[in-house]
Amino acid sequence: MLGHSSAGTTTIVIFGASGDLTHRKLIPALYNLYRRKRLPPDLNIVGFARRPWSHEHFRELLSEGVKNSEKDGYDEEVWQQFAERIWYSRGDLATRADYETLHQFLYDLERIHANRLYYLATAPNYYEPVVDNLEALGFADETDGWRRVVIEKPFGYDLNSALALNRAVHEAFRENQVYRIDHYLGKETVQNVLFFRFANAIFEPIWNRNYVDHVQITVSEDLDVGSRAGYYDQAGVMRDMFQNHLLQLLCLVAMEPPASFNADALRNEKVKVLSAVRPIMITDTVRAQYEGYLDTPGVSPNSQTPTYGALRLFIDNWRWQDVPFYVRSGKSLARKTSEIIVQFRRPPTQYFNLPRNRKLTPNMLSLCIQPDEGIHLSFETKMPTSAHDIQTVDMEFHYRDSFKDMILPDAYERLLLDALLGDAALFTREDEIELSWRLIDYVLRGWETPQSPPLVSYRPGAEGPVEADSLLKTDGREWRLGCGGHS
Ligand code: BG6
Repeated sequence: MLGHSSAGTTTIVIFGASGDLTHRKLIPALYNLYRRKRLPPDLNIVGFARRPWSHEHFRELLSEGVKNSEKDGYDEEVWQQFAERIWYSRGDLATRADYETLHQFLYDLERIHANRLYYLATAPNYYEPVVDNLEALGFADETDGWRRVVIEKPFGYDLNSALALNRAVHEAFRENQVYRIDHYLGKETVQNVLFFRFANAIFEPIWNRNYVDHVQITVSEDLDVGSRAGYYDQAGVMRDMFQNHLLQLLCLVAMEPPASFNADALRNEKVKVLSAVRPIMITDTVRAQYEGYLDTPGVSPNSQTPTYGALRLFIDNWRWQDVPFYVRSGKSLARKTSEIIVQFRRPPTQYFNLPRNRKLTPNMLSLCIQPDEGIHLSFETKMPTSAHDIQTVDMEFHYRDSFKDMILPDAYERLLLDALLGDAALFTREDEIELSWRLIDYVLRGWETPQSPPLVSYRPGAEGPVEADSLLKTDGREWRLGCGGHS
């Protein structure tokens, strides 16, 4: 309970509460926070959706989600206590009168002073209607307690729609009331990128163009688009993964040390990175679709939507000038892994008389975000018994060994707690969203021109298309997996 400064009631209102996100992620995260006594003491959770459900029915459905997601056991008694705080208010997201009913319901529940967190867990086309209605009914007014709004990704479909959405949101809420969520920033190991860089003195002096040869960011998924084809076929990998998660990872790995760890200082540095990214040349991109994608129900028969993308990009600043960042992501690949690799330069001289065809392997630092969370540093070592030969070995840190009894919390736990505490450091600011869309739009527009590389295909279960390998091969490099997979 510590840290929740303003006493009194707090209400979380979830719009689109009958959806997958609510029962798979939000309620399990809130239940875990409740169990660990991290939530404000007097908390209500109100679900708002169209289905004609009772409070009891809503709670029952949610308990299933919690049972399924629990990593370390489900406690019926704790759930029952927690469930007493959950309510349901029936309503249509686009109907003003239903917000009036909600307004009354909240008033009866809270009695005047209460803080409120509005969570937009709806389909993205409802974001504007919801904030319009919130504005019209004065839901953002802070006279009786703070008011904040959490908005899920995707925030916009392109730069113009993101600008329009930002305008609509600002009709109701000031920027410091707005929490745009990117669940990657809530992942323990993603936050640790900053700790690794700035809580240790030995890496930062070499974290620059003088020592770093290049950086690779890989977010690969083994699952295909599954039942989300309707959404995915409109979005594709650039909108679904690059605009948000991958560019955020890029920012964390490339940013300068912030003046402090408060939300604005941190986000100012991320904005500087995004503004320094050189417009991505279309010849530095690869787009691909896995074989069989077109047979997925919900995918248009001639869809050109890429399920895989790879980019080479550059950050034009003092630290990173001319250091390539290779970034890739795709579905239906060989494995699920998210990792960042910093590959250092080779030593300037080679003293060792290595066996034929053997070259020194550059040192590589791997920040393993998932699934085997940790950090590895590879380096060269002399092979015992051989006078000359060298072998690459790994110095490894695994969360599972160093924090044996700890289960890494789900990203939503941290993010929901931060939003309740008013800490926006792990949420995306308006200008970050706009700059990242600018970069992604540029690539997407390029893919519509005759100069675009063609959409190629790859076998499900493969590492990706060969064209992605060529992107690095032309630079004399190759994709590397440093977190337990094979390159
Ligand atoms: C979501 C994307 O934002 O992130 C999904 O919409 C993707 O398509 C998911 O599967 C990946 O997240 P994670 O946490 O499983 O790496």
